[in-house]
Amino acid sequence: MKTILLLNGPNLNRLGTRDPKHYGSTPLLEIEQKVRSMVAESGFELDSFQSNHEGALIDRIYEAADDKCSGILFNPGAYAHTSVALRDAIEAAGVPVVEIHLSNVSNRESFRHKSFIMPVSIGQVSGFGPESYLI
Ligand code: DQA
Repeated sequence: MKTILLLNGPNLNRLGTRDPKHYGSTPLLEIEQKVRSMVAESGFELDSFQSNHEGALIDRIYEAADDKCSGILFNPGAYAHTSVALRDAIEAAGVPVVEIHLSNVSNRESFRHKSFIMPVSIGQVSGFGPESYLI
């Protein structure tokens, strides 16, 4: 079965209660369920992984490559703005990645304007709340 990996980085396990002004009030589990139904309609199975640890996310990206995963929907959280290591892992793994953000990172603090992930992604969806994952 062809798989898509839904990968979420630090603090996204707190969706639902964390800073609803920026991130809404939908828990991550609910977002996962919606994405799972949507990818199923296209004949894909969804794998899902969230971690607050950079190394664990890197390991999961390589695992996806080894498993011949078709693509990764990745909300790197704050690591988007800091992590050369995740950027390098995406490049080395060679699995197509779409970068996702709930909030519009371009109209927030300037430190969120830079993404290390975007240059190694096929695209970025940012600013549509939980819909960002479905787009
Ligand atoms: C986020 C945006 C990041 O800047 C922030 O650090 C997050 C969430 C988003 O989904 O809007 O943790 O990735």
